[in-house]
Formats: sequence, C-alpha cells, structure tokens
Amino acid sequence: MDPGRVYQVWNPGRLIFGPGALGEIRKEFPSGDKPLIVTDEGVVRAGILDKVTDLFARAEVRYDIFNRVVADTPIETVEEAASFYRERGCASIIGLGGGSSIDTAKAIAVRVSGDGTLREYGSGRPIPDCLPPIYAVPTTAGTGSEVSAVAVVSDHEGKMKVGIRSPLLVPKVALLDPLLLSTIPFRTAAETGADALSHAIEAYLSINSNVITDGMALSAMKMITSNLEKFAANPEETEAAGRMLLGSCLAGLAFANAGLGLVHGLAHSVGAYYHVSHGLSCALYLCAVMEFNVPACPEKFVPLAEALGVDVRGLSSERAASRAVDAVRGLFSRLAIPKTFSEMGIEFRLDPKMVDDAYTAPVAKGNPRQAQPEQIAALFLSVQG
Ligand SMILES: [Fe+2]
Repeated sequence: MDPGRVYQVWNPGRLIFGPGALGEIRKEFPSGDKPLIVTDEGVVRAGILDKVTDLFARAEVRYDIFNRVVADTPIETVEEAASFYRERGCASIIGLGGGSSIDTAKAIAVRVSGDGTLREYGSGRPIPDCLPPIYAVPTTAGTGSEVSAVAVVSDHEGKMKVGIRSPLLVPKVALLDPLLLSTIPFRTAAETGADALSHAIEAYLSINSNVITDGMALSAMKMITSNLEKFAANPEETEAAGRMLLGSCLAGLAFANAGLGLVHGLAHSVGAYYHVSHGLSCALYLCAVMEFNVPACPEKFVPLAEALGVDVRGLSSERAASRAVDAVRGLFSRLAIPKTFSEMGIEFRLDPKMVDDAYTAPVAKGNPRQAQPEQIAALFLSVQG
C-alpha cells in the first residue's frame, strides 16, 4: 500500500457467475422494455443465440437481434446497428459474444444517446449521461469488456482504433456462464486467453496500479496460467472454463482501474493495419514489452513470476523477471501461438504512423517505462521474423 498517494477504485456493475447463469437473464426485463441482442454469426451457428431467445420466449420478453458484428467492428457497423435500434424502438442492449460484440453494444449505446460521432467521442468529447442499460454475456474468456469502461471499434478509413472511455460504459449486468464457452475453437481460446493474460500483466505493472488492482491482477495471472491450456484443449470442461472466465473478469477489473501499457499500444496500432486478432497482437508483443519494462520496476517481477508458477526462492529480481518471461513464452509456445509475422505468412512493413500511434496511444499511458519512438520501432520489428 502506498500511503503517500490518493487513488480510487471503481466497482463493476452486477456480476452473475456460474454454470447456468444465463438463465437469470430473463429476470432482467420485467417491464416489457425491448432489448436489442447484439451478436455475430459464430455465436448464432454455435446455438448460443437460441439459448437466449428460448429463455426470452418462455418469459414472454420481446427482443430484436442484430447479428452482423465482425471482429474489430468497423464504425459503419455500429452506425447500421444504431439505426436498427432506433427503428425497432429498443430500450436496452445485450452484447452476446466476444469482445467485439460487447464493445459494439457499448458503442451503439453511445451512438443512440448523443449527436456526436464515434470519432468525436473517441477523441475525448464527453459521452451523454443517458445511455440505455447495457448487458454483457461473454462467450470467450479474454477481453474483460464485461466489466470495463471502454469500447474499442475500428476506423478502417483512418487505419486506427477508436477507444471510447467512460465509467458509463460499464455494463449494468454481466452474466458469466462457463457453459456458453463449451464450443469455443482452440485458436480462439488460446488467443483470447493471451489477451486476458496481457491485461493482468499490464495492469499489474501499470504506474496507476494499487494494492487492490494488484491483488486482482495476480489472482488473474494464476488462474489463467493454470487453466488456459486445459480450457483450450477441452472447453466442455466446466471447471477450467469457469476459472478462465473468472480470471479474465478479474484481469478486466484490474485494467479497468489501473489501465494498460505498451503491449496494448502496439497491439492496437498493428491491429489497425494487419488483420491479426487482438489477442494474437497482444501475444506477439507481451514478452518483448515485459523485458523492456524490467529496468523500471524489477521488484514487481518477483510476485509476478510467482503468480505465473515460477519457483522464485533464491532468485534476484532480474532473474525472476527473466523466468517470468520464459514462463509466458513457454505457455504461448505450447498453445502454438505464432511468434512472428513471417510465421503467419505476413510480410510486415513498419509504417511510421504505426510508431506515432503507439507512442501517443492513451491505452499505453500506464506503461512503467516511457518508450521513445525508436524503441517502439524496435519492438515492432522484433517480431517481424
Ligand atoms: Fe486487450
């Protein structure tokens, strides 16, 4: 605890957790207000949307569906969904799916409540304080969007991510049901898990961390590193899926308060240029950024290494940090996550705008070591292959 510093911690909305938690959703709409369910085709094909609509049919809840969310949702898709929401007279929004569906639900809430554009809200224009209620039902264990105060959408024209930030974006209710993760493909489980681990590590190392966020971040690291492989190999195993959902949620709570760092600054920048998933973008840079950050806070790497399963007895801070990086590298390697762009068959070219975007990225402001543009360029090039 730092007695010389004043800090605050935001509480999340209501969390309903456990196998079968989805069943509670029908109780959330007793007044007849019509929710818009925002989801994607993968969730529809997996039969998860049917589970929600069956529950609503039995409880006589009216609803509408927007199922055209795609990864890294473009602004245009949010505009289309916002028009649909208004036309259909909806009164609340349910994000059902991975981070893209939940972030899209948040962005729709912003768009239907104010006159500004998403680019304006992403540039700091205050969002209206009359958002419709937002509900989150994650079907992956990674983004933490169900508890975060951020919505990220893609500006393909400007080749950049638009991040809208406000405590008003924290979902009113998040239903965390491990049974909804039972059909997740191995690759998606591995990459979204890497995102969750990046959140925990970045929040823990952030200059804005505190004793409460550290506790959440370290617990998240333990849960993720001890369950991710089991979960990716067999998502029908409810216990590992539940621990991943909880780990991801704790990491989300930690970064919602402490912020993130350079891994996300680099990942958002690269994600706007190359069609690489957010989780994979984070995985590419996590080890290199951890190594870069060691000189700024070597002592923090001892508990970090321990949370990742390293026996730290007798190790110096620097040695513990090196073993922590090895632990992450080993985990990603066992999950067959690519280490370079060339491994993915992508010819990586460094555009100077990518360096500028990462250098000025608000998401990277918590990084414990200030990176100069040439150091950012070197980090980008370190995974060129
Ligand atoms: Fe992330």
